[in-house]
Amino acid sequence: MTTSRKRVLSGMQPSGLLHLGNYLGALENWKGLQSEYECYFFVADWHALSSNYADTSRIREFVHELLIDWLAAGIDPAKATIFVQSRIQEHAVLHLLLSMMTPVSWLERNPTYKEKQEEIKDRDMTTYGFLGYPVLQAADILLYKPDFVPVGKDQLPHLELTRELARRFNSLYKPVFPEPAEQLTKFPKVLGTDGRKMSKSYSNTINLSDAEPVVRQKLKTMVTDPARVRRHDPGNPDLCPVYDFHKIFSSPMVQEQINTECRSAAIGCIDCKKLVADRIVDRMTPMWDARAILSKDPAYLQDIVQEGSRKAGEVAKATLHDVREAMKI
Ligand code: TRP
Ligand code: SF4
Repeated sequence: MTTSRKRVLSGMQPSGLLHLGNYLGALENWKGLQSEYECYFFVADWHALSSNYADTSRIREFVHELLIDWLAAGIDPAKATIFVQSRIQEHAVLHLLLSMMTPVSWLERNPTYKEKQEEIKDRDMTTYGFLGYPVLQAADILLYKPDFVPVGKDQLPHLELTRELARRFNSLYKPVFPEPAEQLTKFPKVLGTDGRKMSKSYSNTINLSDAEPVVRQKLKTMVTDPARVRRHDPGNPDLCPVYDFHKIFSSPMVQEQINTECRSAAIGCIDCKKLVADRIVDRMTPMWDARAILSKDPAYLQDIVQEGSRKAGEVAKATLHDVREAMKI
């Protein structure tokens, strides 16, 4: 029975192009969930405004590319409901209603809020909308009453606030909202070409939309064990971000071989990188093929979003009806 399946909801901000880190950290997980659970996956385009309000020129493009990446990675519209936040006005309404009962101190103490404000220096992030970001996220979540929300560690404060708001609402009015649990994505952090965490703010990403020569070039110039300067210097794979890619993409046998040969300088970094590039290209090729087809068919994407937003809209409307009744408004 489809009605007894547990419900899952998650979203992504269209604030850039998706990279391997997003694929391994989120999409692979989503793909596994969609056969077992009733899944809702949405593009949080209003959230993208919180940091990009002054320049919205690329948001539509990013929404489009994000949807292509999802489908190319195997998110299946026949299994999961795929939609775009801004198509469902109920998100904005619930955000407003929840904001009325959210103490500002709950928002100010959110560590993600403080960190982002430290991190983003080129834009004014002291906006009302940015402070309220987690309230919008709570609305996104609570509208669909999911059993759990797959997210990365950085999102845990938002999930906690979502539960706090659910409790506050339920005790002020009527029990409308079940408390959603998080599903922490288990994948280890993926390093970028400079050896730091792969992130679009560091410009060290391998994007799902990068063409094969671009991917190969990025891997060629990727940093390695910094102590291995010359070909005959022995290396230490434990200190090398390229080896982390091997751990993800290469067979245990190849990993073992490189582990040994790097330490004795039997293999050079150029050959080692070529080996892992081949595996990454193998993994990305089906996505590139799917991307090429999807990119030529914007009408198909439109249909998927239309249908997904219709389905999601029904759930959102029903919840908002209960909210209005509970609040007598
Ligand atoms: N804040 C999330 C992120 O940056 C995106 C997001 C918005 C989200 N609304 C959500 C994630 C609801 C899960 C559930 O990744
Ligand atoms: Fe890194 Fe491979 Fe070079 Fe060793 S041989 S330092 S694992 S790139």
